[in-house]
Amino acid sequence: MQFYDSKQIEVMLSAEEIAARIAALGRQITKDYEGLSGGLVIVGVLRGCFMFLADLARAIDLPLEVDFLGVSSYGEAQESSGVVRMTQDLSRPVAGKHVLVVEDIVDTGLTLKYLLENLATRHPASVKVAALLHKPARTRVENPIDYLGFEIPDRFVIGYGLDYESKLRNLPFIGVNIGGSTPWKA
Ligand code: IMP
Repeated sequence: MQFYDSKQIEVMLSAEEIAARIAALGRQITKDYEGLSGGLVIVGVLRGCFMFLADLARAIDLPLEVDFLGVSSYGEAQESSGVVRMTQDLSRPVAGKHVLVVEDIVDTGLTLKYLLENLATRHPASVKVAALLHKPARTRVENPIDYLGFEIPDRFVIGYGLDYESKLRNLPFIGVNIGGSTPWKA
């Protein structure tokens, strides 16, 4: 039994490719933050980050805190409205701490821009960004991405935390719906 129709979903990045890339990002992050005073907080941007954050956190060999920010998504649409709304705030202050923002995907860059401006007002020791995916062709505002998993073409991707009509976040890989209709079993 498989909850999705594999004929309708083309695999773009397999679970193995994702795991290997995250292991490498974790090693790099560990090296870069080792010995820094102030403490590391990884801040996941809900909801798409949850799977990437869970795997990345385990790939970082340092003591760290985990926190989350919620931002409004596109709803059922697949286009950014350009209006970003915070729906959930951090649970603890980040002043004096090293913040690593963990994003599933940077598409237009509008969400990340808003978050970086917002975080800067809280006086962290530093702010860096880890994003699993980036679609350079869609960029409307430039942001620094310090740790990037993969650059991908301009296609709407699903799985590994990313949703299609609020579903398919639990696919273990990143894919593209090539079937047209909803690619899951009723
Ligand atoms: P941005 O503000 O346009 O960069 O959009 C960022 C957010 O849009 C991401 O955190 C995702 O939640 C959502 N998003 C952008 N592209 C995709 C996609 O291809 N699949 C699923 N969600 C996406």
